[in-house]
Amino acid sequence: MKENFNLKFDFFNESTPPLIGVDISTSAVKMVELSSAGKGAYRLEGYSVAAIPKDAIVDGNVSGLEQVSDAVKLAWKLLGSREKRAALALPSAAVITKKVLMTAGLREEDMEAQVEAEANQYIPFPLEEVNIDFQVIGPAPNNADEVEVLIAAARKEKIEDRVAAAEDAGLKVIVMDVDTYATEAAYSSFVANQLPNAGKDQTVMIVDIGAVMMHINVLHDKVSVYTREQAFGGSQLTQEIQRRFGLSVEEAEIAKRKGGLPDSYESEVLQPFMQSLSTEVARALQFFTSSTQYNRVDHIVLAGGCAAIPAIDVMVQDRTQVNTIVANPFQSMSLGPRVKQQQVAIDAPALIIACGLAMRGVD
Ligand SMILES: Nc1ncnc2c1ncn2[C@@H]1O[C@H](COP(=O)(O)OP(=O)(O)OP(=O)(O)O)[C@@H](O)[C@H]1O
Ligand SMILES: [Mg+2]
Repeated sequence: MKENFNLKFDFFNESTPPLIGVDISTSAVKMVELSSAGKGAYRLEGYSVAAIPKDAIVDGNVSGLEQVSDAVKLAWKLLGSREKRAALALPSAAVITKKVLMTAGLREEDMEAQVEAEANQYIPFPLEEVNIDFQVIGPAPNNADEVEVLIAAARKEKIEDRVAAAEDAGLKVIVMDVDTYATEAAYSSFVANQLPNAGKDQTVMIVDIGAVMMHINVLHDKVSVYTREQAFGGSQLTQEIQRRFGLSVEEAEIAKRKGGLPDSYESEVLQPFMQSLSTEVARALQFFTSSTQYNRVDHIVLAGGCAAIPAIDVMVQDRTQVNTIVANPFQSMSLGPRVKQQQVAIDAPALIIACGLAMRGVD
């Protein structure tokens, strides 16, 4: 039984300092290094982004090991850190989670046995192929003799692919988290305080718009109540730029960030993309309110690379009529000497997962 609880990769580990947060996503490897600035404050020591070639990560799976590992190597070099220890994350789609009730006060072995029995029922793979972890969330809502336990399981194969990409580049993987948990951690500690009443008693929809996916996570009073993914992302804009202006992917990516495209870009390419992005967010909102007990969302927090598009928050707010902000988890942090101050606010929304992972490296 023991080998299933391969706690080398705790989904629910507490902090394990020092380490760097490493987000391996579709478009890039993103790294963040934080340190303690005393009294519970954090300092951003450094961050980096290194592009991953197209199709090296497909649906969250590593399909081009060498290309991904090269990107990890480059990101690590750009980060300029001597720290080797890393926290990685699995995409939430690769992790099966389930909440169960158990008798309170069980011994660790008895809990493990019960977790195994539960897992056996709902995991569609042989148990020796999966890595399981669990965490007691707290007392059961209606019964003081029981506790609520969250079980998370993922195929070992998915974990090993990511570990290999990082370790081939020279890193040492200490933590394997889940991307949505990392987002929630960064949101709770660094973004919620930018909302009225610090997000307390509020329903907040975090919309992370990356290269190919829109990841939606709704929190009520800082606890996740809903997640969903919609196929939509910035690569659609990149492709349109390529097609219109006859550019390569790399050229289009640079033009997107640095400008230099013909005048028609703004009105004929960017504006329509921003409109469809806003429509997509409105759709997500409608799916949420029509399929849950909640009938409204108090705030929208935009994250991911597409949140760096100027004034995208204004357009989303106009379309949805919900107060909208762009996530900057580094807003209240002090900055180390390696960090370029002007660039941080632009890069920050895409670094929310790496930031949440890096938090595991600070006591
Ligand atoms: N300053 C910017 N302006 C406009 N678009 C940007 C900017 N910075 C990044 N992007 C776009 O954001 C996308 C990458 O975002 P992000 O890094 O969040 O994606 P990802 O996490 O790799 O993808 P996914 O979440 O889909 O796996 C790319 O399409 C990129 O062109
Ligand atoms: Mg992403």
